[in-house]
Amino acid sequence: MQPIKLITDYVSDFVSARELNLLQEQVEHAVTLLETGAGPGSEWLGWLDLPQSFDREEFQRLQEAAFRIRKQSEALVVVGIGGSYLGSRAAIELLSPSFYNHLPRESRGGPQIFYAGTNLSGTYHRYLLELLRERDFSICVVSKSGTTTEPALAFRLLRNLLEKKYGREGTRERIVAITDRHRGALKELAQREGYETFNVPEDIGGRFSVLSPVGLLPIAVAGVEILELMEGAEQAYTAYRAPFDSNPCYQYAAYRKALYDKGYCIELMASFEPALHYFAEWWKQLFGESEGKDGKGLFPTSADLTTDLHSLGQYIQDGRRHLFETVLHIEHPTEDVLIPPDPADLDGLNYLAGKSLSFVNSKALEGTLKAHASGGVPCILLQMAAPAPSYLGWLFYFFQKACAISGYLLGVNPFDQPGVEAYKRHMFELLEKPGFALRAD
Ligand code: PA5
Repeated sequence: MQPIKLITDYVSDFVSARELNLLQEQVEHAVTLLETGAGPGSEWLGWLDLPQSFDREEFQRLQEAAFRIRKQSEALVVVGIGGSYLGSRAAIELLSPSFYNHLPRESRGGPQIFYAGTNLSGTYHRYLLELLRERDFSICVVSKSGTTTEPALAFRLLRNLLEKKYGREGTRERIVAITDRHRGALKELAQREGYETFNVPEDIGGRFSVLSPVGLLPIAVAGVEILELMEGAEQAYTAYRAPFDSNPCYQYAAYRKALYDKGYCIELMASFEPALHYFAEWWKQLFGESEGKDGKGLFPTSADLTTDLHSLGQYIQDGRRHLFETVLHIEHPTEDVLIPPDPADLDGLNYLAGKSLSFVNSKALEGTLKAHASGGVPCILLQMAAPAPSYLGWLFYFFQKACAISGYLLGVNPFDQPGVEAYKRHMFELLEKPGFALRAD
């Protein structure tokens, strides 16, 4: 029994079985490109068999480092941007209790977790530094290149604070760097200062790196069983090699392509669990950076429901018909509350007394799917059995493989991101970065 189910009841009126079958051959061709390394960007395929081939020794050392940080620190700051933090944040937010950072230390069992280097806001970083002044903290800095402006600046600020608090020696014990094995400014600094380092595998790009030390170290510090995460990903690796007819990963890629070909150019990931918010952020980067190039690609966006039904709901129901939804649903949430009866029943909610909030949420999901599909929005439903580490491993792998196939179906290189450089070039010119001059494109 697979923990990720693809339910097509609300998309089948928009894409017929015949249309889907016509795409089967293209999907199989894309899979062959991927598995033989004959497609563009084949030097970036390290993620494909990572759940089987990962470095067990490094994994063990990583668990020890996570254990040390959990014992030693009141707070961990994960410094990184894009693929260097979104996967770990997605996992931590899904698998930890809501309001994790606000719980007492005994119930958390590990440090509070904060994020830095995800923006250039002076306000954000000023408040963060103030907060950390009073706390024993460690840093996990993640940057493959070691030169990305946002995390590099945040790291400099936070390292300064650590050195003021603990001196250079004490700082060494409190920094873990995850970066390229051989190159880059961060690698050089880590070597010079003696920070513990872990490697971003050379053949894995940022947005495909969640199951490498990039994602695994912060996730382990949050107390998640990362071995279970990897085991789930390994099961998915095997399951998603099945033929098209019994492969939901391939079928998802086919549905997306069929809808794209029909003029649906926006894919909205919607979920009814706030804990999935950052999963959708991770997914947006994965698909946005992989597909959005050469004037092509679905625009990935997301909505938290039912919250956004009160803001975006009108547009989704009645606006321009160019979007489809991928609804990510957790079948068995871990926690629930019962609705109490109320003698006065002034709010008229006694008809729900004795029912659980998750029951109401599941009816909201069903009602939303019916409403949106009848309003002309194709809805793909992806159901995850429960928020467990191994199932999340499945889900990460499901989307990574579907994304790579989707890129090849579109005829783009899913593993590069040339467009990300444009803002940097203009920013560096405006900042008068030494040795930098904007070339005419
Ligand atoms: O997917 C990617 O490659 C990017 O999102 C990078 O992860 C991001 O730009 C951060 O790069 P780096 O890890 O080199 O600091």
